[in-house]
Amino acid sequence: MTGRQPEARCLLEARDLSKTYEAGALFGAKRKVVAADRVSFCLNRGEAIGLVGESGSGKSTIARLLARLEPPDGGKIFLEGIDVFERERRHASLWYRHKVQLIFQDPFASLNPVHTVAHHLIRPLLRHKRSTRASAWQDALDLLRTVGLEPAEEFIRRYPAELSGGQRQRVAIARALAVDPDVLIADEPTSMLDVSIRMEILNLIEGLIDERKLAVLLITHDLASARYLARQILVLLQGRIVESAASDVIVSNPFHPYTRALLSSIAKVEYDEADFRHSLEVGREEESRGCPFAPRCPEAFDLCWEEDPVVVDLEGRGVRCHLYTTHKVGEC
Ligand SMILES: Nc1ncnc2c1ncn2[C@@H]1O[C@H](COP(=O)(O)OP(=O)(O)OP(=O)(O)O)[C@@H](O)[C@H]1O
Ligand SMILES: [Mg+2]
Repeated sequence: MTGRQPEARCLLEARDLSKTYEAGALFGAKRKVVAADRVSFCLNRGEAIGLVGESGSGKSTIARLLARLEPPDGGKIFLEGIDVFERERRHASLWYRHKVQLIFQDPFASLNPVHTVAHHLIRPLLRHKRSTRASAWQDALDLLRTVGLEPAEEFIRRYPAELSGGQRQRVAIARALAVDPDVLIADEPTSMLDVSIRMEILNLIEGLIDERKLAVLLITHDLASARYLARQILVLLQGRIVESAASDVIVSNPFHPYTRALLSSIAKVEYDEADFRHSLEVGREEESRGCPFAPRCPEAFDLCWEEDPVVVDLEGRGVRCHLYTTHKVGEC
């Protein structure tokens, strides 16, 4: 697979991205956790893809790989058809950081409490040469208006502690926009916000997709948010994509039992992680056999314990489940 030419139509393409961590007690036996397992997708200008999975499924790992905060163990990233690891082997250059920006789940941690909003915005504007010293203040005000923080003249002088959670996330988005990126990787941008504020942030991101033709990878444990913004949803289980299809198709008719479990969790008003997480470890160990969802799957049968399913393509939907790789459909 890795020998293929990059998909010409993709702005950002992940191909077979993999990452394994060593985990375990300080003095106990180390085990390997596969956090990303040959993850592939293609993101285009002016669209969002939703990456959805339970806690520990590898969402942030994939975000970090794509933002190039750490290198993958295997796989490739193409930006505008350019193999980024061939172009720059070790660290992401300003070229990459200018094109691909990451916003984090925690707007409290991502802003420096000792600096004003102005500092957070003017720094990237100057570093990436988007502004001159003379124009930076005005450009920062414009960014604040873009993300709906008005009066901008007032917000620009505030410190993070003087902002609400939603306002901080808006500043974090404004900071990402300061470099005029093409791709925004949003790692659970709304999960720490009040339910009432979540929609506002999603609407803000939707506006950026429409107006700036941003490409957005929306990472979330919430299928409803993903469906709201994204054309396509990728469902992540233990580092691997187990179902992928158009958002409406996945939400109205999920095939994989894991996707169904994720969907039933959004029927609740509030996401109850403890309830959903069960008592099982979610990180997959390298040597495990069978389908990683088998221990929790209400529809598992013998084969699921013995053999890892492959992805089957069912009219444009990819699904990795033995219910669809065998003739067992309807029998289980
Ligand atoms: N630096 C690391 N060292 C060891 N293990 C790690 C490291 N980073 C992540 N992991 C493991 O990799 C797996 C995936 O973690 P990741 O943070 O990507 O999940 P996530 O889907 O973002 O979860 P959450 O929804 O809780 O944010 C987990 O089992 C985690 O414990
Ligand atoms: Mg995470």
